[in-house]
Amino acid sequence: MTSSAPPAPRAPRLVELWSLREDTTVRTAADDAGTGLVSTLWEDIKLPMADPVVHRALERMTYGPVSLDNVLPGFSGPASPGDPRRAALRSTLEAVGHAVIRTLATGDGTQQLSVVPMVREARFAPRRPAPDATHRLSRFATLRVGTGDMLLESPLSAHRVLLHTPQAMWLVSCYVRPASVRETARLLDVPLEVVRTAVGYLEAAGMLVPGTGGPGPLSFAEDRDPALEHWSPRELMLHNRSRPGLHDEPLDPARAEPAPEPDGPGEPRPAAGAPLALPVPDLDRVLATDPRLTTALEARRSVRADDGLPLSLAQLGELLFRSARARPAAGRPYPSVGSVYPLELYVTVTGSGELPRGSYHYDPAAHALHPLGSPPSLVDALLGEAGATAGLSAEPPVLISMTARFRRIGAAYPGLAYSALLKEVGALQQTLYLVSTAMGIGPCALAFGDTATSARAFGLDWRAESGVGEFVLAALPGGGPLTEHDRIGTRYP
Ligand SMILES: Cc1cc2nc3c(=O)[nH]c(=O)nc-3n(C[C@H](O)[C@H](O)[C@H](O)COP(=O)(O)O)c2cc1C
Repeated sequence: MTSSAPPAPRAPRLVELWSLREDTTVRTAADDAGTGLVSTLWEDIKLPMADPVVHRALERMTYGPVSLDNVLPGFSGPASPGDPRRAALRSTLEAVGHAVIRTLATGDGTQQLSVVPMVREARFAPRRPAPDATHRLSRFATLRVGTGDMLLESPLSAHRVLLHTPQAMWLVSCYVRPASVRETARLLDVPLEVVRTAVGYLEAAGMLVPGTGGPGPLSFAEDRDPALEHWSPRELMLHNRSRPGLHDEPLDPARAEPAPEPDGPGEPRPAAGAPLALPVPDLDRVLATDPRLTTALEARRSVRADDGLPLSLAQLGELLFRSARARPAAGRPYPSVGSVYPLELYVTVTGSGELPRGSYHYDPAAHALHPLGSPPSLVDALLGEAGATAGLSAEPPVLISMTARFRRIGAAYPGLAYSALLKEVGALQQTLYLVSTAMGIGPCALAFGDTATSARAFGLDWRAESGVGEFVLAALPGGGPLTEHDRIGTRYP
């Protein structure tokens, strides 16, 4: 009897699987059986598919991740020149690379991570790093919960990575600090080749960045890139995701839900006292006496007056009516994306004028102020913070706080809602600047207000309605409405 040694256990390795994005379809072109039509999110691509293996492979990829070795034996093995079937499949996969999801699975079939292309330009070309190559997570990479997976994404990447298992997350977590492939393999007690493959995927997806310059302190290109120096990861991601072109998240308002009615669920009105009707200006008088647009534009500037005076009720009424009221027919003097009007105005005054000290909610339809009965300490805090932000040594006579009812705009414009409402703040601020300049009132926009203070002062749940813009105003000693006699540059040289 001859005894033979048991076969050596094969080292665990990662299997590469291929699939197509769910929004991709594959069919044979109607006019030519040798041509295939691949429809992606972005376009229809006609491709030669004379060899049925190409069509079969793509079709299998529409059902989910598949090892292409099962479709074309030897596909992932070493390249053998002159193999036309393999070359045809490879070139087809390259042509539709922006629709191809690449998945790494362990030998038992468990999918570990997937790299999903997000844009037409996405091309994925993983390489296996050397055992001593050192990487770190990109400082722009963020990890969040997706649908059933952890989602690793970066505003600098054309791909997102789905981490399907705790093991994949452990691997990623090893790279919070620079680590070599060899160190990671040792730490996780995983074969070196497994880590090389996975790190190659994460590097090609832009989530891990390679270090250069060792031994000694390593250097990472993204840390030295002047274009990235002043971007915080949060701001770059918000910027990236609030405009189309660099990701695949829906931004198309046509696909969005209609905006909910104002004051629907999640939009509680703050508790208000008896409303105070504001004076309505005579627009014929305003038209007859107002300076020309160019005069107001040329005179506009930010005024930070320590000796600023309270606005009279007539002035406050005129300013709000001309800048922010809801017109009976439609619209307001400032524009709003989709006519959604997510902004609400709150007026806080010092009490040195006709209005008692406190905060008021402006009702743009009734052109009225609702006293909020805010605790005096919060009114003090609002005015104190605004004065400091404007660089004043006293409280500003009037603070206008703009809040946004996120539900109103978020439902109608998913993805771009936040950037759209900030643009709206800018449009309203410029309207306030120009009207107050024409009226001879000193205006100044502020960079920020305290979210917690305003939410508490106005009785709001900041998650549903939060401060997004602040503006201070003061009547000016010796000031009066700007007229055509105030030639450009004479009042404010
Ligand atoms: C979005 C924005 C935020 C601002 N934040 C502040 C601020 O926090 N404090 C301040 O005193 N001025 C602030 N300003 C006013 C600017 O400092 C001012 O517009 C700039 O210096 C140009 O001067 P001008 O407005 O007189 O032309 C802000 C202006 C804008 C548009």
